[in-house]
Amino acid sequence: MAMHYIPIFLLFLTSFCKSDDQLTDAKPLTHGDKLISKGGDFALGFFSPASSNTSMYLGIWYHSIPGPRTVVWVANRENPITVLSSPMLAITNSSDLVLSDSQGRTPWVVKNTITGAGVTAVLLGEGNLVLRSLNGTITWQSFDHPTDTVLPNMRFLVSYKAKVGMRLVAWKGPDDPSSGDFSCSADPSSPDLQFITWNKTEPYCRLTVWSGKPVSGGSYLTNTSSVLTQTAVNSGDEFYFTYTVSNNSTLMRMRLDYTGKLKYLSWNSHTSSWEIFGEHPSSSAPCELYASCGPFSYCDFTQITPACQCLDGFEPVDSINFSKGCQRKQALKCSKKSQFVPLYEMKVPDKFLHIRNRSLDECAAECNHNCSCTAYAYTDLRSAGAMEDPSRCLVWSGELIDAGKSTSGANMYLRLADSSVNKKSSSVQIVLPIIAFLLLLTCIAVVGMYRYRGKWRKKENKTKLMLGYFSASKELEGENTEFPSVSLEDILSATNHFADSNLVGRGGFGKVYKVI
Ligand SMILES: *[C@@H]1O[C@H](CO)[C@@H](O)[C@H](O)[C@H]1NC(C)=O
Ligand SMILES: *[C@@H]1O[C@H](CO)[C@@H](O)[C@H](O)[C@H]1NC(C)=O
Ligand SMILES: *[C@@H]1O[C@H](CO)[C@@H](O)[C@H](O)[C@H]1NC(C)=O
Ligand SMILES: *[C@@H]1O[C@H](CO)[C@@H](O)[C@H](O)[C@H]1NC(C)=O
Ligand SMILES: *[C@@H]1O[C@H](CO)[C@@H](O)[C@H](O)[C@H]1NC(C)=O
Ligand SMILES: *[C@@H]1O[C@H](CO)[C@@H](O)[C@H](O)[C@H]1NC(C)=O
Ligand SMILES: *[C@@H]1O[C@H](CO)[C@@H](O)[C@H](O)[C@H]1NC(C)=O
Ligand SMILES: *[C@@H]1O[C@H](CO)[C@@H](O)[C@H](O)[C@H]1NC(C)=O
Ligand SMILES: *[C@@H]1O[C@H](CO)[C@@H](O)[C@H](O)[C@H]1NC(C)=O
Ligand SMILES: *[C@@H]1O[C@H](CO)[C@@H](O)[C@H](O)[C@H]1NC(C)=O
Repeated sequence: MAMHYIPIFLLFLTSFCKSDDQLTDAKPLTHGDKLISKGGDFALGFFSPASSNTSMYLGIWYHSIPGPRTVVWVANRENPITVLSSPMLAITNSSDLVLSDSQGRTPWVVKNTITGAGVTAVLLGEGNLVLRSLNGTITWQSFDHPTDTVLPNMRFLVSYKAKVGMRLVAWKGPDDPSSGDFSCSADPSSPDLQFITWNKTEPYCRLTVWSGKPVSGGSYLTNTSSVLTQTAVNSGDEFYFTYTVSNNSTLMRMRLDYTGKLKYLSWNSHTSSWEIFGEHPSSSAPCELYASCGPFSYCDFTQITPACQCLDGFEPVDSINFSKGCQRKQALKCSKKSQFVPLYEMKVPDKFLHIRNRSLDECAAECNHNCSCTAYAYTDLRSAGAMEDPSRCLVWSGELIDAGKSTSGANMYLRLADSSVNKKSSSVQIVLPIIAFLLLLTCIAVVGMYRYRGKWRKKENKTKLMLGYFSASKELEGENTEFPSVSLEDILSATNHFADSNLVGRGGFGKVYKVI
């Protein structure tokens, strides 16, 4: 009888080991094994895409949901292992993390900077694979090397020291993890200001130019009471983006899919499917595609059906085909006087020149004095944190392309021939201060309502969102997003200056605070 107990015990022991979240030098991971994160949301292991019986990848996917595997990270996307060659993930004598096969190939290696005993690889609850030494120092983490997905609490480094930071690279196909044509990264010509989805090297969809707002409100996710909060922080040297979800049991991911769409997805357990609650370019806004409206035109995201419009003082070149853009009603002549008209809430055009260290007046003068300057925009970034130069003076010369109008946009000033504004000018002078005053009142009212309406909207259980930094546009069917952006001061007071009592989470890279 006793004989029967031994194999059962051993079986129990092995399966226990295999559902661990840690890989040690004594216990490598082989085909069929998995690391399961604490909480059970994520698994790390070997997988073959549905379309391939021969290629095998090391990856991280959701463990807690049924249906087809949803992969969020792939280690060896360019170097698949063949199924028959017994893949193995192990920590070597020199504390490196090495993926190898029976033919002695090593398609993926993480060189560890720290050697010594006790290095382990751990799959953390958030879906982050880390290499950790005995004293807890993390020397490498998969969150620093994303493939096509940004998970909650991951810090996505947009730029660092004026260089492009991280990059998301889409899969080649629905079932092919190798690198496809689409990628997302900071714009190399202004890495600290804008983020672009590329089709190879051509811009495919340009996201909002950073306006200095560190936090962009919350969004209440369908059928949950969860709030998604996005934060973009630019400290001068370092510009990163992160988002958190108030309820950890709501599964959320942001993915650049193989068709080039950047999608925000949340898991709906009622329908057992991923629900898209935001995407760029949006299916309902074809004019969000890069420069699709043509020069001197803009995509109006404030409309229920976003469409191309001409900038003030311009008319369509071809009233049927907007991709030809718009032309001036009155030609500009350098010798003649010109005037600048304000355009409110604009996703400012691309191809700007960023002039450092200017005040608003100096920025205006910069544009006014140069005949080839067609527009300028100015933002004071001081509220966004300590920066050497908190001014952001952007000037454009020649054509204005890929502009948009959205509730999260910034003001810009467009040069027009004096005669084309003359008729309006007397009323403009009076109306402007009134508008400014009304705007100020509205701002105060909206900010005041924000805290109350937050609770109210939660009860209403509506999907409401404001995808600040990564949002160029109106997001959801028929609903205007009117969440005000929150300043750093507001956050400081709401989180009680980042008091520990308001700490709701802590990652390898930062802390997450609850906002009261
Ligand atoms: C994979 O193998 C199964 C049977 O083992 C076969 O039915 C299927 O067609 C194969 N798929 C591919 C893409 O080779
Ligand atoms: C690793 O260390 C063990 C004992 O410390 C030794 O026997 C083995 O040869 C080493 N392997 C390599 C690849 O250095
Ligand atoms: C942890 O140990 C590594 C060497 O293994 C050392 O470089 C590092 O400074 C230590 N960190 C702490 C916080 O003690
Ligand atoms: C991406 O660019 C290629 C040309 O390089 C083009 O043929 C293709 O249609 C583009 N894809 C999309 C989705 O626009
Ligand atoms: C929300 O949940 C209810 C059940 O509580 C379900 O019937 C409904 O389909 C869900 N809505 C969506 C959009 O999934
Ligand atoms: C978190 O979400 C789960 C299911 O989505 C729900 O059952 C639970 O009550 C939520 N918790 C909080 C604190 O809202
Ligand atoms: C619209 O104009 C663009 C650029 O001139 C041209 O490539 C495109 O074929 C035109 N489309 C139609 C429907 O005329
Ligand atoms: C910015 O300009 C002022 C004068 O306009 C100058 O004193 C200051 O040194 C400049 N700062 C930087 C960082 O260039
Ligand atoms: C005017 O602007 C153009 C383009 O931005 C620039 O090349 C030129 O140097 C400027 N001229 C002056 C006098 O600033
Ligand atoms: C989310 O999970 C982390 C651990 O991963 C935990 O510390 C934190 O309290 C959780 N937050 C919420 C709101 O449940």
